Amino acid sequence: MTDRYAVIGNPIEQSKSPQIHLAFARVTGQDIDYTRVLGPLGQFAATVDAFRAAGGRGMNVTAPFKLDAYAYATDLAPSAQMAGAVNAMKFEGDRVLAENFDGVGLVRDVVHNLGRPLRGQRVLILGAGGATRGALLPILAEQPTELVIVNRTVAKAQDMVALAQQHQRSPVPVQGLAYAALAGRSFDVVFNATSASLTAELPPLPPGVFAPGALAYELAYGKGLTPFLSLAQQAGVRALADGVGMLAEQAAEAFAWWRGVRPDTAQVIRDLTVPLT
Ligand code: ATR
Repeated sequence: MTDRYAVIGNPIEQSKSPQIHLAFARVTGQDIDYTRVLGPLGQFAATVDAFRAAGGRGMNVTAPFKLDAYAYATDLAPSAQMAGAVNAMKFEGDRVLAENFDGVGLVRDVVHNLGRPLRGQRVLILGAGGATRGALLPILAEQPTELVIVNRTVAKAQDMVALAQQHQRSPVPVQGLAYAALAGRSFDVVFNATSASLTAELPPLPPGVFAPGALAYELAYGKGLTPFLSLAQQAGVRALADGVGMLAEQAAEAFAWWRGVRPDTAQVIRDLTVPLT
């Protein structure tokens, strides 16, 4: 029998997950069905219950339900606990196993696809919301020389520092700063994990933050040359990336978790790439 999977969100039409997972299924020879589920607001649990009752084996979770999925899960993996949010669920009888693959997907994209080891690099993350929280430990596990989290609301950046310090095994210096405090500092890898790209706003970033040869990485996907990437380009940065590879890699992690086989992501990334212009 064909195993059923889906992505749940609201809205959901924009989701690329069905295209990605069905492509993975084709190349790995897995017999799965993968659909979109529009979750009515306030009815996450009832909607997932119905999908499970109809035989569903697992779901990806997108906005605005990542916290609902966290509450719904019976078994939270460390990645989900650390992120405080869930982006993939696996249903086993009464149990709901929950993971968050966004952070590991980001790091895999940077290290494997873009060929940029983070070890020994000075890393800056803009923003201190859910996206940053999920990426913290996977980035620290790569042993950068330092990690700076910068946020409009400095207290939230400092909360992230405290969280990182509680959980990381081999201590990397981590700091939480205001944008103005970045003057005179530069970094080898700069991630934009704010939601500013979604509103076409620019984080107040001094152009000097990009070290020679730096990578500028926009976690959002498919928005072309965002204000952040444009600023980086004007500052002379040549390595620019958006989140297409992160999207494909987090999906590959979920697929491997569900099906026991890890698909290659290169073709999916090529198919989904939107030019950075
Ligand atoms: P997500 O789950 O996508 O990370 P979030 O938890 O709402 O979303 O966090 C959004 C992040 O983007 C926050 O760090 C926010 O900064 P504040 O904590 O100071 O609000 C940041 N952000 C949103 N719009 C921004 C802008 N125009 N400039 C700079 N930072 C912005």
